[in-house]
Amino acid sequence: MTNLGVYEEKIKDFSWEISERELGYKQGDNINIGEYCTDRICRMGKKDKLALIWEGHGGDIKKYTFDDMRMLTNSIARFFKELGLKGGDRICLFMDKIPELYFGFLGILKMGGIAQPLFSAFGSESLLTRLEDAGTRAVMTQKRHLPKVRNIVKDLPGLEFIIVVDDDASKPLREKEISFSMENIEKIDQFDIFPSKAETPSVLHYTSGTTGKPKGAQHVHYSLISQYITAKYVLDLKDDDIYWCTADPGWVTGTSYGIIGPWANGITQCVLDSGFKAESWYKFAEKHKVTVWYSAPTAIRALMKEGIDVVKKHDLSSLRHLCSVGEPLNAEAVIWSEEAFGRPFHDTYWQTETGSIVISNYPDMKVKPGSMGKPFPGIEATVVDLNTHLPIERTGTVGLIALKPGWPAMFRTYWNNEEIYKSKFKNGWYICGDRASIDEDGYYWFVGRDDDVINTGGHLVGPFEIESALLEHEAVAESAVVGKPDPVNMEVVKAFIALKPGFTASKDMNLNIMNFVRKRLSPLAMPQEIEFVDSLPKTRSGKIMRRVLRAKEWGEEIGDTSTLENDEG
Ligand code: WTA
Repeated sequence: MTNLGVYEEKIKDFSWEISERELGYKQGDNINIGEYCTDRICRMGKKDKLALIWEGHGGDIKKYTFDDMRMLTNSIARFFKELGLKGGDRICLFMDKIPELYFGFLGILKMGGIAQPLFSAFGSESLLTRLEDAGTRAVMTQKRHLPKVRNIVKDLPGLEFIIVVDDDASKPLREKEISFSMENIEKIDQFDIFPSKAETPSVLHYTSGTTGKPKGAQHVHYSLISQYITAKYVLDLKDDDIYWCTADPGWVTGTSYGIIGPWANGITQCVLDSGFKAESWYKFAEKHKVTVWYSAPTAIRALMKEGIDVVKKHDLSSLRHLCSVGEPLNAEAVIWSEEAFGRPFHDTYWQTETGSIVISNYPDMKVKPGSMGKPFPGIEATVVDLNTHLPIERTGTVGLIALKPGWPAMFRTYWNNEEIYKSKFKNGWYICGDRASIDEDGYYWFVGRDDDVINTGGHLVGPFEIESALLEHEAVAESAVVGKPDPVNMEVVKAFIALKPGFTASKDMNLNIMNFVRKRLSPLAMPQEIEFVDSLPKTRSGKIMRRVLRAKEWGEEIGDTSTLENDEG
């Protein structure tokens, strides 16, 4: 028996009140995600149940019960408060997937702060852009990432505290830097949890768009209502599950379904803090007897590349439900997973902005390989015409995915950017910015993004941010950045670059520019390929036409180029 049951039945009588009721929440009550993921689970008699099984790259394992997690998140919350941090302050988490990251996140929520998780792979410039925009007051980081924070601290007068979680006193800390050890901290039994209400801000996740700098999607504590019930119905989490979400909490999947959803359901999670390697992933799933696995198409394609033989060397019979998110899950991957694991990956679709899964394949529903499935009960979805933004009645016609606003986990604004937030709504619909069609059975089929954002391995990178970084390189006169098809990562970053006079294209120049971007932004943003060109195609008004370059990479029709100034033909 699955948690959702029969989809067609569930959509008839679903309301978000079901989730509220299960969580014991009534309108006007306090609702603090940190409390719901820890104290409440302990009150329900699961104090001694494992909350987190963590494994580091060296194979070291740490285990924490819900009661350990409850007290340690209290300790972290009190530590922040004693520093003078208060409700509404933005506190950034800039760490690898270590236990401090997970407990730090909940600790911040417990003291009323706004958690701002960022990938530890980010370089100084990526970090600076996001900390500056958010007006971040404190950063929690590790010694190995500290140099990147130190690089930019002079540009961030509002950044008052840099908390170093694994300071070993080998090198003295500097001004603003404070050492913190979760291993040595006193476990606090009682903490006055911040009395957050439904609309109190909780999490700020930065996401990339086509133009401008990354935007902070701002979420509220009430998001729990969606995250709890989607984790229960879509991931089908049950009391005795061992759940593994491979996503990093720098990404919304790693918080909504790597922290909040599963722990609010009182589920044991395991975390592997090391990079991707098929063999070690299978070993991990086997060792910890993982039952429910949430991953991404890029990882699945990478596993496919390694073949079935490696799968068969491991006992993966504990796996009972598989889900995927972040990019189109190709039909081949679904079929392969049936062969490899005896069950299909279930595609789920959502965004940083939606906060929770909005379209998905449900455990009891027939999977049509290649389709994203159907709207979650309680989510009103459609596709709208590309120009009029009116719902398209005819099945099979491609339009923009649109959602009726109002589900609990929906973002409430873009931080400091209400204008762009408002521009996302048309005719009373929230426009996701993705193209899809709906078939005669109501299944959604993803077609592509409606903008220039590059989806590499499930991670969105904005061309503008990369182009801006490239312009800071002494040799670059102008550039255009597009996604190039890639068999594993779906897309990788490709940069077209015109050099300044006096500089010549060479292998060294290529490497130099790649490394320049990798260090400033991140390995994901680093161009995998650079093509040196004399000039870039532009519109008459001087705007670079990424569309033309992208179409070439994808072997697509270029379309109307009548507004081009220097049509390359
Ligand atoms: C893409 C990730 C196809 C899409 C949770 C979306 C997908 C963007 C799917 C959001 C899917 C996500 N099939 N494309 N199942 N899931 N996407 O904000 O373009 O990092 O708009 O949130 O990823 O990415 P984000």
